[in-house]
Parts: sequence; structure tokens; C-alpha cells
Amino acid sequence: MSDGVTTRAVRLVAVGEPLQVVENARLLAPGAGEVLVRVDYAGVNPIDTYAAVGIVGDTARLPRTIGVEGTGIVDGARVVVTGSGLGLFRDGTWAGALVAPRDAVVEVPRELDPTQAGAIGTVAVTAYEALHVLGRVTADDRVLVLGAGGGVGVVAVQLAKIVGASVVGQVGSAAKADAVAALGADRVVVTGASGLVAEVGDFRPTLVIDPLGGGFTPGAVELAAISGRIVILGVSAGQDIPFPGRTFYRKGLSLLGYAGLVSTPERRVAAVRAIAADIVAGRLRIPIDEVVPLDRFDDAIARLRDRSVLGKVVLATQR
Ligand SMILES: NC(=O)c1ccc[n+]([C@@H]2O[C@H](COP(=O)([O-])OP(=O)(O)OC[C@H]3O[C@@H](n4cnc5c(N)ncnc54)[C@H](OP(=O)(O)O)[C@@H]3O)[C@@H](O)[C@H]2O)c1
Repeated sequence: MSDGVTTRAVRLVAVGEPLQVVENARLLAPGAGEVLVRVDYAGVNPIDTYAAVGIVGDTARLPRTIGVEGTGIVDGARVVVTGSGLGLFRDGTWAGALVAPRDAVVEVPRELDPTQAGAIGTVAVTAYEALHVLGRVTADDRVLVLGAGGGVGVVAVQLAKIVGASVVGQVGSAAKADAVAALGADRVVVTGASGLVAEVGDFRPTLVIDPLGGGFTPGAVELAAISGRIVILGVSAGQDIPFPGRTFYRKGLSLLGYAGLVSTPERRVAAVRAIAADIVAGRLRIPIDEVVPLDRFDDAIARLRDRSVLGKVVLATQR
């Protein structure tokens, strides 16, 4: 591909208007420190829905291709692309091709299943960083994974089991419970926020992975063991979090926030490589609920919104 090449892409043209499939989105030739990626799979994430309505990302940089992660080919090698503002501050991955900063491109083993590779860049990196970099998980930990059937959750459960920790996973509906148990969780609780403390019971987590916020975080504080750590990485259940301050300080808890946007390229590369190695070795698998052709991106977004997805939905960007 050379200067002036065009690609099919899902674009945000104006805030407040629906996303559009554009057949001939123009790609500029890669500049210094950039590479052209032929994208074949791209993950669908909650942040794409926020970007689509202008809550995150540069609304002065429109039209813009959506998509913060994916996989493709560069010079014959399989790569994962993630971070560096893809889909938020520059064109993203929901396209047949993109020009990416080299910082955003990580070579992965050829034998890695491409649909798995398409889902590593956001949820798996987030789960890895939350557990290993912030949470410093070890075999001695008791880990409570909230939203355990979601994209981050399905990876967090498995990564915690790989190090030998005990794991309880929370899901909101019985439909996801068996699948989370099959990923290795020692116990799965089916509950909303109000039932969390009673359902989790005597399991006193030393580490909580919390993508939910809302009424779930106070439950995590009530449940946590002395000196426990709670990593908040999302607020799917609401960003207003009633905070039981006395319980928090008397237990000597630590509250840690994780944001991929403020992680570093070096940390991202390390996480992608570690996850890819686990998948290739057969220790880890990201459940891919559905692979959806690019022009059916609306269906993928609808499934994320209605909470019917177990693990990930991935767009096939060449279809
Ligand atoms: N900080 C970062 O860098 C970063 C990176 C990735 C993701 N995130 C955030 O982390 C969160 C999870 O991401 P994900 O990719 O795992 O999302 P996901 O695949 O949509 O999974 C989230 C899970 O949360 C539960 N959930 C969703 N809405 C809920 C609600 N209103 N009340 C209670 N539970 C709800 C659902 O489980 P049930 O159906 O079982 O209830 C769903 O499976 C999102 O908020 C996302 O924006 C942040």
C-alpha cells in the first residue's frame, strides 16, 4: 500500500450522529515512526461506545476511525496494535488498514490465533496490569473479580489462577456463571451490588479487581481482608461510588486506579507479550463470543450494551 491508499472504515463523522461505514477513507503514507498495518480483527470495547458519543477522545479530530485495539500484519509479521491514542486521538482499528505509531505495534508469535490477538490489546492488557503491576498478585492472594464474565473479567480470572491465587468471580446473570467457572474460578457468585457481601460471604479478598464501581465498590470495601488492595479500572455500574470511609481506613486498605491511557508503551509491550505467550502455551484463552463483520458493528455495540456478551466480541475487518 502506498500514499493515497483508501480503506473501508467505521468513522465518527460528527458527535451526536451515528457511526458510519465509509468505503473510501483515505490513509496518508506512514510518516517517521509510523507503520502501515493491514488490520484483520479489531476488538469491540465499552470505550468505543464512549468515543462514539464524544465522551472520550478528541472531538476536534473528526472524522475519525473508531477502535482502540486490533491485530494485523506488518511486513509479513503478526502484530497486536493498541494504545497511543488509536481510535481516540487518531484513526483507530475498525478499518481494513491503519497507519499506527510504532509504539502502538507489538509483534506476536505467528501461531497466535488472530481472533485472540484481536482481543488482547485492551481487556487482556488491562487485566494483566491490574493484577500484576498494580495488584502484585501472588499465590497467597484471594482475588475477587467483579464483572467476571466481561472482557476484563474473563482474563483476570485466568491470570489470577495461573499464579495460583484463589478466585471468586461475580456475574450478574446465571447465564455467565458456568462459563466463568470453566475458566478456573473456584467459586462464582450470581448477584447484583446489593447482594454482593452476603453472596461472597467468608471469602475475604486480599485483592479486588473492580471494573464496576457504583454500589459494588462499597461491597468490596466491606468484604476486603485487612491490608487488602482494590483496583478500580472502570465504572460500568456507575461512577458515583458511596464510600464507607471508616471501614476503609480501619482495615488499612489500598485503593488503586488503573487507566490504560496513562500506562507506558513499555508496560503495554510487556503485557501483550506475556498474554500472547500464555495463549500460545495453552494456559489462557480469551472467550470470543462472536466474530462480527465490520459493517455489522452496530450489532456488536448493541450486544455489549445489553450485557449478553461472554468475554469479547471482535470485528472481522476484512469481511
Ligand atoms: N481503565 C482502563 O484502562 C480500562 C480498560 C478496559 C476496560 N475498562 C472499563 O472496565 C469496564 C469493563 O470493561 P470490559 O471490557 O470488561 O466490559 P464488558 O465486556 O462490557 O464487561 C463488563 C461486565 O460488567 C457487567 N456490567 C455491565 N454493566 C453493568 C451494570 N450497569 N451494572 C452491573 N454490572 C454491569 C456485565 O456483567 P454481567 O452481565 O454479568 O452483570 C459485563 O459483563 C468498562 O467500564 C470499561 O470501560 C477500563
